[in-house]
Amino acid sequence: MALPSLYWYIPLLAILCNSLLTYSSSPFSPGHSLSKRSSISVDSKYDNLVSRNSLFTAGFFQVGINAYCFSIWFTEPLGKNANLTIVWMANRDVPVNGKNSKLSLHDDGNLVLHDADQSIVWSSETKSTSGLLSLLLEDTGNLVLRQPNADPDVLWQSFDYPTDTLLPDQAFTKNSEMVSSRSTANFSSGFYRLYFENNNVLSLVYNNPEITSVYWPPPYETTWAAGRTTYNNSRIAKLNSEGRFKSSDDLRFNVSDFGMRRHRIMKLDSDGNIRFYSLVDEKDGKKWEVQWQAFSSPCKIHGVCGPNSLCTYSHETGRKCACVPGYEKKNLTDWTYGCQPTFKPCIKGVVEDYVELRLVEFYGFDNRYLENRTLQECKQICLKDCNCKGFQFRYFNDKGYYTCYTKNLLYSGYQLDFKDSVYIKLPKKLVLSAQQTFISGSSLSCGPDQIIPIQRSYEKKHESSSLKVLLWFAYGIGVLVVLFALTFFYIAFKDSSTTAKSYFPISSGFKRFTYSELKTATRNFSEEIGRGGAGVVYKGKLSDDRTAGIKMLKEVNIHQGEAEFQAEISTIGRLNHMHLIETWGYCIEGKHRLVVYEYMENGSLAACLDSNKLDWGKKIDIAIGTAKGLAYLHEECLEWVLHCDVKPHNILLDTNYNPKVADFGLSKLFDRGATENSSFSRIRGTRGYMAPEWVFNLPITSKVDVYSYGVVVLEMITGKSPLQMLQLGDGSSGGDQTLVEWVRGKIREHIGSTNGTWIEEIADGRTSGEYDTRALINLVNVALQCAEEDRDARPSMSQVVNNLLHPGFED
Ligand SMILES: *[C@@H]1O[C@H](CO)[C@@H](O)[C@H](O)[C@H]1NC(C)=O
Ligand SMILES: *[C@@H]1O[C@H](CO)[C@@H](O)[C@H](O)[C@H]1NC(C)=O
Ligand SMILES: *[C@@H]1O[C@H](CO)[C@@H](O)[C@H](O)[C@H]1NC(C)=O
Ligand SMILES: *[C@@H]1O[C@H](CO)[C@@H](O)[C@H](O)[C@H]1NC(C)=O
Ligand SMILES: *[C@@H]1O[C@H](CO)[C@@H](O)[C@H](O)[C@H]1NC(C)=O
Ligand SMILES: *[C@@H]1O[C@H](CO)[C@@H](O)[C@H](O)[C@H]1NC(C)=O
Repeated sequence: MALPSLYWYIPLLAILCNSLLTYSSSPFSPGHSLSKRSSISVDSKYDNLVSRNSLFTAGFFQVGINAYCFSIWFTEPLGKNANLTIVWMANRDVPVNGKNSKLSLHDDGNLVLHDADQSIVWSSETKSTSGLLSLLLEDTGNLVLRQPNADPDVLWQSFDYPTDTLLPDQAFTKNSEMVSSRSTANFSSGFYRLYFENNNVLSLVYNNPEITSVYWPPPYETTWAAGRTTYNNSRIAKLNSEGRFKSSDDLRFNVSDFGMRRHRIMKLDSDGNIRFYSLVDEKDGKKWEVQWQAFSSPCKIHGVCGPNSLCTYSHETGRKCACVPGYEKKNLTDWTYGCQPTFKPCIKGVVEDYVELRLVEFYGFDNRYLENRTLQECKQICLKDCNCKGFQFRYFNDKGYYTCYTKNLLYSGYQLDFKDSVYIKLPKKLVLSAQQTFISGSSLSCGPDQIIPIQRSYEKKHESSSLKVLLWFAYGIGVLVVLFALTFFYIAFKDSSTTAKSYFPISSGFKRFTYSELKTATRNFSEEIGRGGAGVVYKGKLSDDRTAGIKMLKEVNIHQGEAEFQAEISTIGRLNHMHLIETWGYCIEGKHRLVVYEYMENGSLAACLDSNKLDWGKKIDIAIGTAKGLAYLHEECLEWVLHCDVKPHNILLDTNYNPKVADFGLSKLFDRGATENSSFSRIRGTRGYMAPEWVFNLPITSKVDVYSYGVVVLEMITGKSPLQMLQLGDGSSGGDQTLVEWVRGKIREHIGSTNGTWIEEIADGRTSGEYDTRALINLVNVALQCAEEDRDARPSMSQVVNNLLHPGFED
C-alpha cells in the first residue's frame, strides 16, 4: 500500500492543530503520540503517552522523594500496593526534579529530557527535518520516534536500549545490554549485566567497581556442556508472545506456561538472576509469576553477598548471607557491600592462625595455585603473604593429593557439595571466639554429609508404650512443623524485604484438584499405566486438555495430616528442572491422596529396557540426564530431597527419550516399600538397588541415591537386572553375586589385556547402535565408583555429572 492509512491522519491532524493552538503555553494531552516542539511535563500526569491498546504508559515515574525518571510501564497497577511494572527508563541513574522537568521533541528532531534547571539528563541524539516526526508509544511497549515518508522510517526506538526488562518480540542484539537495578526499591543501575560476549554467547557478568566476573553460563562448564554454541555470530535473542525464548547461541526453551495467552516479561532482576514472568490473575489483583529462571541455586550468582561473606540457600528460608568469621557487615541495609575485617591484617608481632569453613568454596581470585601440598605447608605459605586472606584446600581423587589456592579476595563464597574446606586467616585471638560463634550460627550445619538420618519410628511391628510415646512425639513435631510453616508464610507475605515484593516465584499451574475432577479425568480410574509401592498411576486428561499421570497413593499414614501433606507436596511442586518430572497438583479429600504429574509418553526406563527400545546413544543420554536431575535434588541441601528409591521404574522418558526422575520427595509422604516385601519393611528402597547403609543401619545420606544410580547405569549397560541376579545367581560364577560384583569380576578377568575387551563382554549385545568405547568405559567406571560399599568413596551426584561430561577431569 502506497498511501498511509486514515489511521495515521486523524491523530496527526489533531496534534498539528493542537500544537498550533497551544504550543509552549498551556499543557495539553498528546494521548498516543508527541509531535515536534511539544513536550511531556513532570507536572501533569495528563501529559502521559498511552499505547492504543492502553496496555502501556510512558511518562514520569517517581523513584524517590521529588525524584522522577521518564519511564514506560504497564498501565494497570498490580496488587494491593498498586505498584507499577516499569519496563524501560531514560537514564535511570539521574532522576529529575518533580517540578519543571520535561521531555521535549525539539525542532531539530532530538528527543531531550531536561531537568528543572534546563540541564540535559538524556537525549536520543537524533536529527530530522521531517515535519511529520513524532514520538509514538506502540502496542508492544516500544516507544518509537518515527518520520513517515522519510528514510529511515524509525529514527530511534526504546526497544534498542533495554534497561533491565525485555518485552515479547523485542530483539536483544549484539548492541543491546541489560543491567539490573540496584535493588527492588532503587531503580538505578546495579552490578549485573546481560550481553553477548565476544565469543557470541549470551552471558551474565557481575561487575562492581572492584571485580568483574562472568557467572553464566557457568564458568566451570564448557560452552558446549552448557548447551551453547560459539559459532553463530548473528547474536540475537528474542522472547515471543507464546513464551518461547530463542538465542543465536542455541539457548532455547519454552517457559513453563508456554502457549498461554498472557502478558510476559523477561527481567534481569536485582539479585542477578534472569527470570521470565507472566501476568496472572489472583484474588487480590494481578501478579507476575515466575515461569523460568536461569538459577535455582541463587548462591551460584557471583557477588550476591558482597566480599568476605558466605551465601547459603534453602527452599524454606531462601537465600541468606553471613560474614565469614572475623569480619562484620559493612552496610547494615545493603549486602552488596559485603563484610569488612574487624582487625588490621598483617601487623608485625601479631600471631595469625586459621578458621576452617567446611564444605565451602570461594570462587576465583586465586593468588597462587600450589599442587601436592600438606595443610601445614599451605598455612605457612599464606601466613608469609600479606595479601593472602585465606586459602581453598582441595583434594583430588585422581592425583591422590591436596592442592591449595591462596586467595587475595574472598568473593562469591557459597556452601555446597564441595568436600574441601576454606581456611580463613585471622589474628590468633580472634580464631577461638570466631570458631565458636560461627559454628553455633547453625547456618553451616546443612551439608550433604551431615544430613540427619530419617526417622524410622515405624520399625517396630507390635505396639509398645515406647512406640506410643514416639507417635505422640511425632504428632507434636507435626504440629510444630505446621505452626512453623504458617509463621513462615505469614512472615514471608508480611515482610519480604529480602525478595522482590510483587513477584512470587512459584511455578505455574500448581493447583489443588477435587477428587471428582480427577475421577472424570481418568474416566473413573480406568487406564492404569504404572504400579509401585507408593500406589497406582493412571493416565488422565485434565480439563485444559493436558495429559497427566495421576498417582493414587495407597493407605496413607494416619498421622500424615492434611496440612503436612499439602506442605510437602507444594515444596515438591516448586521444584523445576528439565530432568525432574513436573508436578502439576494434588488432591486431598477424605482418605484420598493423589498427585498429578506431567504424562511421559515413553513410560519408564524399566519398561523401555524390557522391550529393548533404547540404543547406545539414548542410554548414555539417559545416564547423564538422570545424574543431572539427581544432582539438582541433592544440591538443595535438604533432607527430603533424598530420593531413596532410584530405580529404572522411577526414571520416566518423554517423547524424545529425555529422562525425568519421578517419585522424589515422596519418601516422607509415604512409607514406601513397607507393603512390597515384608522382610524389608524397615527399609526404603528396592532390593537390588539399595545401598548397604540401609542394611547396616548406618546414617542415610545423599550417597544412598548415588549407589542406586550406579546400579541403574550398570543395568542399562549390561542388560542384566540386579534383582534377577540376586534371585537366580549368575550361572557362570555361582552363588549370590550382585550385578556390581559381576561387573568387577569381568574387569578383573581381563586385567593385563588391552583396554576395551572387558567392555565388549559386559555391554548388552542386544542393544542397537554403535558405542564410543571410551565413553562407555568411562560410564562403567563412574557407575562402579558410585556403587562402592564405602559411602565416602562414592562421588557426589554433581561430581558424577562432571565426570560424565568431561571424562578425565575430576571436580
Ligand atoms: C540507589 O543506589 C545508588 C547507588 O548505590 C545510590 O547512589 C542512590 O542514592 C540510591 N538511591 C536511593 C533512592 O536510595
Ligand atoms: C544463527 O542464528 C540465527 C538466529 O537464531 C539463525 O537464524 C541462523 O540460521 C543461525 N545461523 C546458523 C549458521 O546456524
Ligand atoms: C516449544 O514448543 C513448541 C510447540 O510445542 C515446540 O515446537 C518446540 O520444539 C518447543 N521448544 C523447546 C525448546 O522445547
Ligand atoms: C548503605 O547503603 C545505602 C543504599 O545503597 C546507602 O544509602 C547508605 O548511605 C549506606 N550506608 C553506609 C553507612 O554506607
Ligand atoms: C607429592 O609430594 C610428595 C612429597 O614431596 C612426594 O613424595 C609425592 O611423590 C608427590 N606426589 C605426586 C603425585 O607428585
Ligand atoms: C511497592 O510499593 C510500595 C509502596 O509504594 C513500596 O514500599 C515497595 O517497595 C514497592 N515494591 C516494589 C517491589 O517495588
